Amino acid sequence: MSAHPEFATLSAARDAGEPAVEIHVNGNPVVATQGEMLVDAILRHDAKFPHVCYLEPLGPIKTCDTCMVEVNGQLVRACATPVAAGMKAATESVRAKAAQHEAFDTILGNHMLYCTVCDNSNGNCTVHNTAANMHVEHQKHPFKTKPYDGDFTNPFYRYDPDQCILCGRCVEACQNYQVNETLTINWESEHPRVLWDGGHEIGGSSCVSCGHCVTVCPCNALMEKSMIGHAGYLTHLPKQALDKMIDVVKAVEPEIGYGPIMAVSETESAMRDVRVKKTKTVCTYCGVGCSFDIWTKDRHILKVEPSEGAANNISTCVKGKFGWDYVNSEDRLRTPLIREGNDFREASWEEALSLVANRLQAIRSKDGPDAIGVIASSKCTNEESYLMQKFARQVIGTNNVDNCSRYCQSPATMGLFRTVGHGGDSGSISDIAQSSLILIIGSNTAESHPVLATRVKRAHKTRGQKLIVADLRKHEMAERADIFFQPKPSTDLIWLSAMSRYMLDHGLARQEFLDQWVNGLEEYRRSLAPFTMEYAAKMCEVPIETLESVAQMIAAAPTMCVLWAMGITQHCGGSDSSTAISNLLLITGNYMKPGCGAYPLRGHNNVQGASDMGSMPNYFPGYEKIADDKARTKYEQAWGVTIKAEKGLDNHQMIDAIYDGKLKAMYLAGEDMISSDADANHVGGGFERLELFVVQDIFFTETCRYADVVFPAVPSLEREGTFTNTERRIQRLYQVLPTYADAKPDWQIIQLLANKLGAEWDYKHPADIMHEAASLAPMLAGVTYDRLAGYKTLQWPVKADGTDTPTLYLDEGGFNFPDKKARLYPLEWIQDSEVMNDEYDIHLNNGRVLEHFQTGNQTMRVPGIYDLNPERYLEISPELAEERKISSGQWVEVTSRVGKIKVKVLVTTRVSGKEVYLPLTSQSGPVNVLVGSAVDRSTNTPAYKETSVNIRVLPEKGANPLRPTNFRYSGKRTPQKGVEVERKWKRADYRLPGTSELVQINTGK
Ligand code: SF4
Ligand code: SF4
Ligand code: SF4
Ligand code: FES
Repeated sequence: MSAHPEFATLSAARDAGEPAVEIHVNGNPVVATQGEMLVDAILRHDAKFPHVCYLEPLGPIKTCDTCMVEVNGQLVRACATPVAAGMKAATESVRAKAAQHEAFDTILGNHMLYCTVCDNSNGNCTVHNTAANMHVEHQKHPFKTKPYDGDFTNPFYRYDPDQCILCGRCVEACQNYQVNETLTINWESEHPRVLWDGGHEIGGSSCVSCGHCVTVCPCNALMEKSMIGHAGYLTHLPKQALDKMIDVVKAVEPEIGYGPIMAVSETESAMRDVRVKKTKTVCTYCGVGCSFDIWTKDRHILKVEPSEGAANNISTCVKGKFGWDYVNSEDRLRTPLIREGNDFREASWEEALSLVANRLQAIRSKDGPDAIGVIASSKCTNEESYLMQKFARQVIGTNNVDNCSRYCQSPATMGLFRTVGHGGDSGSISDIAQSSLILIIGSNTAESHPVLATRVKRAHKTRGQKLIVADLRKHEMAERADIFFQPKPSTDLIWLSAMSRYMLDHGLARQEFLDQWVNGLEEYRRSLAPFTMEYAAKMCEVPIETLESVAQMIAAAPTMCVLWAMGITQHCGGSDSSTAISNLLLITGNYMKPGCGAYPLRGHNNVQGASDMGSMPNYFPGYEKIADDKARTKYEQAWGVTIKAEKGLDNHQMIDAIYDGKLKAMYLAGEDMISSDADANHVGGGFERLELFVVQDIFFTETCRYADVVFPAVPSLEREGTFTNTERRIQRLYQVLPTYADAKPDWQIIQLLANKLGAEWDYKHPADIMHEAASLAPMLAGVTYDRLAGYKTLQWPVKADGTDTPTLYLDEGGFNFPDKKARLYPLEWIQDSEVMNDEYDIHLNNGRVLEHFQTGNQTMRVPGIYDLNPERYLEISPELAEERKISSGQWVEVTSRVGKIKVKVLVTTRVSGKEVYLPLTSQSGPVNVLVGSAVDRSTNTPAYKETSVNIRVLPEKGANPLRPTNFRYSGKRTPQKGVEVERKWKRADYRLPGTSELVQINTGK
């Protein structure tokens, strides 16, 4: 596995600028990096050197002892020995070899080699490969079973204690990489094993099913259930038959040795390569942009194998690792559908496309091109978003094009445009990991951006990174924070501005940086007059001492990253609060160096890319303004049409325009708008008034119910293209599965429709589309599919020579304004749109839950995820539950000023007082039924987080909405420093191999 830059020992040494040194391995000169682990230097020259527990991203674990070498005459573990100039290492001396064999023999006492009938024997099993590489023929310590049953209680993976070699990789991954702190090993036990929550079944433990442990397990002890019985040619046989085959193998092994047996299993393993396909893709869920190989056999997904992704390395969350079975759902749209009265009938592509083209043409002739609106999706690829805006501007002749960043991220982009000039994260996830201080505001990062959260949790736990969280809700990041505070809803701008004023008033601002790189300081200083700490404490209802501690911690931090999400943006003042964040970063000098900056966490997988590619009413690809004559002329010449200089309608304005009789037709790709836009009843009423409504999706969504024509599209696994993650990182996805039934990739559908309307597009592959986009948008100038091949990535802006920009605003490049200087932006606080009163006395918050993506269209169709979390619920506080005399499972009716829904409650301390939280997941009655039409003053993003409701207790009471297998049910983490191998070394039966007679850990019955 290749290393993730900030965690790998080898890369860490190199990145730290350590010098190259010469060492000798077995008498041969080897160039290494001072401080890197000896095992890495050896492995570059001898890939077969044994090292069972060592995995570069995890660092030294020191549990297996198979990497023993002689260094300057001493036996040491190569995985835990830093390289030093002049070092002389012997891996093949008699002592070293004996120690390695002795250690590996102990491992075989804990693991039965039945490789030919093992689903993990795919050429990458560390135990098998080590046995083969070391030419093990017989084992001294016989295999002994352990007195435990296998645990199958997690829907996605199982643990087999009998095959567990106690290497501790899983524990290290869970404790210090994912930092869920579920796994430990009871080293003091007579029969050590891996424990969940100190001895709980996996189901119902604190395990969040992220899959890190399964990914790093070097053998079959932890394995994806989707592999079992599917990967091998013989592994589907009944257990009795398999047991008999294993008995035969064991009977012949003493006579013939492992060599011939291994050869048989390697032949069978090689045969698997023929039918098992491994394809790199990019996760289609959140904006972290994890990438990984997906292993498939026909349409069966065997497993997800992360290893080289630039954003995630070995990491995934439950959705990326296990959330793909929806692609085989019976509910998939198979063929185009045409409305007939209240029903739909199946149609051919030819009929459906002709119908849509003819009616679009008729509407354009009758009412003009601006009577048509186009909406792209953040689930579409960059190439598809590019085509959607080109379709609107070139084929239809309107700037009425938008995407769903309008629902979440536009205010953050606006805040950055106002102050620093680029509408994207300042740096990379590696900057977040290396920062001294992380400030998270309005983001449930551990559930909404799980893998990115692991980088913060890891740095906080293992490196002493400081963490401040401001949120209404006490979620996991809040529990882990050094300072957690709960500002009153919609008051973030006040305390953020008070922080800036405090810095200026107390000489804590970075004056030199401000003088050199920032405009507008004096005007900004004047605008801060109202924002004293006293005022902030009163308005935000946060103790002044807490606010002052936050200010002091920020001032003391050499570097700070601010992470924010929809808790900030989905307000009437979302753009202003985002601006206040960037102002504070400027005042404290937290731009223009690694490890700092602004990180608006992009929600959907390609919400960044959808806007980057110009699916917006006022921008071309790469954020060139349509009002800019030069940019417009460029596109006019390229596309051979005249483009209007006036901004088109955004998706919020499109709905109003329908009511005004100005918009007659909409073409919408990949958006379940009725479940996403605010005030669903209003949106639905608009759709009903359209003369033509065309929806393109993979399932028959709520929005499809309003359509005249539905085009069946395909999910990301069935197409090629690129996605851009929250770090501005462009990544390629390859086609994993053939397209389903008669469905087609979005880019092909858009092209077919464009050509029906006379466009004569001729894109043969998404690479052609990216080529065109890169030729027009300077921000993407050097983006090519070759430069993105495999796991290669580019972070925009990308120069024509392919140089990309992992961190923005570094060095003398300055900010993205003509004079290279940032701009402080004066702000005032404006009261939120909906205030609580006697009738609507409860504040409704909403957002994601870990297991589900948005409304659950995909994840609810993944059986394992459905099993874990099948039901939506309203989180209410113990205080409110006490006041209303209700408990978990009680049905209530939640009523806002615009709508009502019925839902079960879950009583939890995550919320307090009269705050309630409703996940976006919705089988019926989505959150937006309750959300009014108030919007952000600058971007029209709905103010989803400004909703007051009342709650009426209904007579019905059901079971607790949490399943017993859900991690929230009875899970209790067991944090510890990692594997804690020192406890193993204290055992009476432990000896370092090669130092004296090794006594193995007795794990037998
Ligand atoms: S949380 Fe669960 S799946 Fe993730 S590493 Fe820990 S035990 Fe494994
Ligand atoms: S279950 Fe854990 S300790 Fe056991 S072999 Fe796998 S990674 Fe190692
Ligand atoms: S949902 Fe996000 S964190 Fe989870 S695997 Fe996908 S991209 Fe990574
Ligand atoms: S690889 Fe060094 S102790 Fe396991």
